[in-house]
Amino acid sequence: MKAKAAILFEVGKKLDLREVEVEPPRTGEVLLKMGAAGICHSDLHVMTGHLVAPLPAILGHEGSGTVAEVGPGVTNVKPGDRVIPLWRLSCGICEYCSDSRPALCVEGTQIRMTGRLLDGSTRFKLDGKEIKHFAGVSSFSEYSVIPARALVKIPADFPLDRAALLGCGVITGVGAVFNAARVKPGSRVAVFGAGGVGINVIQGAAIAGAEKIIAVDLLPNKLDFARRFGATHTINARETNPVEAIKALTGGKGVEYAFEVIGQPATIRQAYDSMGKRGMAVVVGVTPMTAEISIPIMTLVFEERVLTGSVYGSSRPWIDIPMLINLYQAGKLKLDELLTARYPFSQINEAYEALERGEGLRSVVTF
Ligand code: APR
Ligand code: ZN
Ligand code: ZN
Repeated sequence: MKAKAAILFEVGKKLDLREVEVEPPRTGEVLLKMGAAGICHSDLHVMTGHLVAPLPAILGHEGSGTVAEVGPGVTNVKPGDRVIPLWRLSCGICEYCSDSRPALCVEGTQIRMTGRLLDGSTRFKLDGKEIKHFAGVSSFSEYSVIPARALVKIPADFPLDRAALLGCGVITGVGAVFNAARVKPGSRVAVFGAGGVGINVIQGAAIAGAEKIIAVDLLPNKLDFARRFGATHTINARETNPVEAIKALTGGKGVEYAFEVIGQPATIRQAYDSMGKRGMAVVVGVTPMTAEISIPIMTLVFEERVLTGSVYGSSRPWIDIPMLINLYQAGKLKLDELLTARYPFSQINEAYEALERGEGLRSVVTF
């Protein structure tokens, strides 16, 4: 079948909207009719070359849609089901899958690195030539073929635009708080970067009952959003040294948890420096592959600090996505306020330009 899709042919170029040929789903695969796709910074990292992906590819890793067709052997979903595709496929039985970290499964890495599904081929073609998948999702297409094991079913009446946000920004941010850091009630938290993912770290910390939530960003509009999502204090790092300001706000002690949700060595170091004894810094932002930082080693020993990272919210999506839906339906998780713009799919490049200008929080394209 034919589908309109946004293809990245080369680093540094805009997305090209083209009609591609989508092959039917094979064994264990599903044809997904996309409802909405999220405009996340990680796709932009690929467009600018900060992150490497096999090209040409149909980008997009945050999305939601309706199952249109299932391939042989698929039993977990059926045509008509609403689902969220996961950008990390997992086998379900390896040591990481069995121990609550499916995002670390080798199957997800294989799809991400090759741009091909597990049988080593792609389901997209343009003029007879192979077009790559991105992270096994490729949500920037009217139709995509996705492994059935990478789908999480959602309620039939759940709005697809807000569902899309759960698949990356929300689960990554809230999951980093709940699963990676396990933020304790009454604790002090700093969040570097209050964009689409960082704002979800902020609301996750608020739900977890943190006492102080200090948001750091360069843009006043992001800091306004941060306050609306639960930040108790905000710091504009363009005007103020954030490490000194965080120390001052915590009686000189520093925070118990610092999250970096930008993806820059300098801000990762700032997050490290703003924690206190027995503090934990969690890197969520994605840096270029070769980026490094240095830290004063003795603070690891004499202050028992922890520096770690979190991928995909360190989540178990089949448990965490239903939990996030329950929190939203109970009025505790803000999704309506998170979705600050909707664009028609034809305006996907405009949506990315708005992200680069720092407008809004999270936007989607709809199909
Ligand atoms: N200090 C503080 N804030 C900064 C700085 C800085 N030096 N540089 C950038 N920021 C802020 C931006 O102003 C923006 O609000 O970081 C925020 C980044 O947010 P988005 O662009 O919306 O990106 P998002 O989709 O949230 O992704 C953030 O997480 O998943 C990863 O790949 C993703 O690395 C990216 C990061
Ligand atoms: Zn993302
Ligand atoms: Zn596995």
